[in-house]
Amino acid sequence: MTTSFRAAVLTGATSGIGRATADLLAVRADHLVLLGKESDAEAAQSLDAVRALARGRIDYVQVDFAEPDSTRAAAAAVRRLLPRIDLLINDAGMPGLPDRVVTADGSERTFAVNALGPALFTQLLMPALSRGSRVVFVASSAHRVEAFDPGDPDLSRHYSAVGAYARSKGALLAWALALADAARDSGIEVVALCPGLSDTPLSATMMGRVGGSPRVGAAHTWHAATATLPTGSYLEGDRILTPGPPAGDVRTRAVVSAVIERRIGAPQPGRSGTAA
Ligand SMILES: NC(=O)c1ccc[n+]([C@@H]2O[C@H](COP(=O)([O-])OP(=O)(O)OC[C@H]3O[C@@H](n4cnc5c(N)ncnc54)[C@H](OP(=O)(O)O)[C@@H]3O)[C@@H](O)[C@H]2O)c1
Repeated sequence: MTTSFRAAVLTGATSGIGRATADLLAVRADHLVLLGKESDAEAAQSLDAVRALARGRIDYVQVDFAEPDSTRAAAAAVRRLLPRIDLLINDAGMPGLPDRVVTADGSERTFAVNALGPALFTQLLMPALSRGSRVVFVASSAHRVEAFDPGDPDLSRHYSAVGAYARSKGALLAWALALADAARDSGIEVVALCPGLSDTPLSATMMGRVGGSPRVGAAHTWHAATATLPTGSYLEGDRILTPGPPAGDVRTRAVVSAVIERRIGAPQPGRSGTAA
């Protein structure tokens, strides 16, 4: 079990589970780079609170995962700050919205923010990771509610808020587990989890005020980040479970990864140039 890090990166750090995870990381990382959609000024209050706990340096990078250019710029900024990364936690996510929204480059917004952005961001940071580094994906058991359809990734045929969220989290989980397979020989570890139900702006948007403290969710993320686990593990309640489709099946996982690869314009996990 690893409980301290030289260099760690956390997305979604400005709210909910990610904000609580930032507190846990701040006392255990020499250099922590936090990311959020808010501007530096909007994030200042959260950052001050995290910095008050910090044992080392804290930097903040703004990113909008709905925009590939913003994602690329953020990854480049992180690379400049951290040539080597021990831990990358992909926490950022958005709820399904009542109406279908399409991003400037034509992707359904939930799919873009919850799957395409984190996949592109991770892909761009992989060269900074090495044997023993870990990538954590905060997924959701909601992926079991409705399976991602590679034939209709942008939900043009049928849209619902919950379906959009479920499918996007399933797509990210499938990509994450494909990355684990591809990175196995490199010694880079990949772990995904559902953090359980926490009362956050994301959950409130879809379900009203339900769930416990985000600190409980952050404790599950912390377990995924620090426990000794086989790479490719998917956790619910800190227990390794078999995910539902499409992530649970190796062939479907590959199909979903190919959809994401085409969209983000980066090599699919397992092809040359990744996960070395
Ligand atoms: N809450 C739950 O019960 C629950 C259950 C299962 C899984 N999860 C997962 O846990 C993770 C954290 O969710 P949460 O409940 O803590 O939600 P939250 O409080 O709403 O926090 C979401 C974080 O993601 C960021 N974010 C949203 N859209 C973004 C974008 N376009 N680009 C960059 N960052 C963006 C948010 O930034 P802003 O605040 O600036 O928008 C915020 O920092 C998500 O991946 C979610 O799917 C949550």
